[in-house]
Amino acid sequence: MTTEPLFDSTTFRRVCGQFPTGVTAVTAVTDTGEVAALTVNSFTSVSLEPAKVLFCLATSSSSFDRLQRARRIAVHILAQDQEDVARRFATSGLSGEEKLEGVEWTAGPDGVPIIPDTPAILAGTTDEAITSGDHVIFVLDVDHVHLKPGPVPALSFYQGRFASPTAVIAE
Ligand SMILES: Cc1cc2nc3c(=O)[nH]c(=O)nc-3n(C[C@H](O)[C@H](O)[C@H](O)COP(=O)(O)O)c2cc1C
Repeated sequence: MTTEPLFDSTTFRRVCGQFPTGVTAVTAVTDTGEVAALTVNSFTSVSLEPAKVLFCLATSSSSFDRLQRARRIAVHILAQDQEDVARRFATSGLSGEEKLEGVEWTAGPDGVPIIPDTPAILAGTTDEAITSGDHVIFVLDVDHVHLKPGPVPALSFYQGRFASPTAVIAE
């Protein structure tokens, strides 16, 4: 095995990009009604009982302040036909409100934006926000879930690109 003891962040990103992931759209609402929206693939489940999930957010993200002040956060596990939402939510320089323009959404618990046609949705509140390097790990206590009936091909991300589906989200 060849290892590289010294590597730059581009190499590190390429190595991590060999791990195929799903893609989520994270939305949030603050106490004052400001919203955030961004694309996240660092999502994973943490605990079954109680139900907890996590995602990692760059402290450099313009969404970071609103996520830190979020009253409620929703994670949408995207389908293959929602790539447009993933691309829009990953656009730098747009506010949460601007990212949501042109995306069909409704107000969920506490007013958090919910994208209704998404195959799987989890909503909850921040349990812990753990700083690690240039990211913060948001651990959420999940109190609402929604599963859309029927098998749906999941949106995937692999080697820095949206990829052909490797999984189907089944009912
Ligand atoms: C497929 C994909 C996955 C992403 N995953 C993350 C992530 O897990 N954490 C993160 O901080 N940014 C992630 N990003 C980048 C954010 O979506 C991007 O910073 C953000 O949408 C730009 O808006 P912002 O200014 O609010 O950060 C991802 C982008 C893409 C396209």
